[in-house]
Amino acid sequence: MEKIGVIGMGAMGSQIGLVFAGGSFQTIMVDQNQERIDWGMNNIKKLLSRRVQKGKLEQPEMEKMLSQIRPVEDIHELKNADMVVEAVFEDISVKREVFAELDRICDEKTILATNTSTLCVSEIAAATGRPERCIGTHFLIPAAFTPLVEVSRGLETSDETHQKVIEVLKRCGKETVTVDDAPAFVINRLYIPLLNEAFLVLQEGIATAEEIDLACVKGLGFPLGPLAATDASGLDVVLSCVESLHEQLGDKYRPAQLLRKLVKAGHLGRKSGKGVYDYT
Ligand SMILES: NC(=O)c1ccc[n+]([C@@H]2O[C@H](COP(=O)([O-])OP(=O)(O)OC[C@H]3O[C@@H](n4cnc5c(N)ncnc54)[C@H](O)[C@@H]3O)[C@@H](O)[C@H]2O)c1
Repeated sequence: MEKIGVIGMGAMGSQIGLVFAGGSFQTIMVDQNQERIDWGMNNIKKLLSRRVQKGKLEQPEMEKMLSQIRPVEDIHELKNADMVVEAVFEDISVKREVFAELDRICDEKTILATNTSTLCVSEIAAATGRPERCIGTHFLIPAAFTPLVEVSRGLETSDETHQKVIEVLKRCGKETVTVDDAPAFVINRLYIPLLNEAFLVLQEGIATAEEIDLACVKGLGFPLGPLAATDASGLDVVLSCVESLHEQLGDKYRPAQLLRKLVKAGHLGRKSGKGVYDYT
């Protein structure tokens, strides 16, 4: 394993690329157009520069990591990758299309991994002719710094694929936990309903946004309150995760009206300048 591909250079994909560059893998990163590629590369450069300013990374190390990354528009450049991690939109048909295309393009030995938060790994793998080489690698935000990756095996994932992926992640300094291919796996099965519940608490007027976040940070030891964390992830991204849980697991997981309303109004969090909080 020397060459890793990442498809989708958004909030997650850009940081996932950084993880592999940090593990000294040649990292090829793909997005749909130059604008998205520029966004992803700027995100990576901003992150690394902040680390350098804080004295947590040396300038030559930053340059080495950047030199490991090759951003491209053409998915065919992933042909000879040993492994490709998909981080496109959380939409089953988009992910299945991307997997089917990767299956056509990539070498038959290439491992295909999905960063889905809530969708079925086996269903995504079924769009390919190599389900034994497909797997879930659920990186957590911020992917570059969170020590854990939740790995999930699809119905047909082979032991060899599982082992190789764990070795790659270990080389990048990540710990792993392997869980079953179930809706939202373990982390999001617990965490997404909590985020949704924070919107219900806010909508019912039980506490202000600041009080809800402070309660979780100081009372429960969260690094970031649930509402601020939703602003960081993107309200649209979190809503699509709640909707997916609702669809797969039933009414208990119905999205909060306030979360839906904010998304409809274009208040998507930090990325749009406004979410629960105002960043303008
Ligand atoms: N944001 C989070 O907190 C978070 C955490 C864990 C996992 N995830 C998962 O990671 C995935 C990506 O989420 P995100 O927040 O980075 O989304 P995002 O919207 O920020 O980025 C998605 C990127 O994929 C690109 N894309 C879409 N279709 C493509 C295609 N066919 N070819 C190439 N590029 C394509 C888009 O242009 C965009 O840049 C989702 O499955 C999401 O559920 C997100």
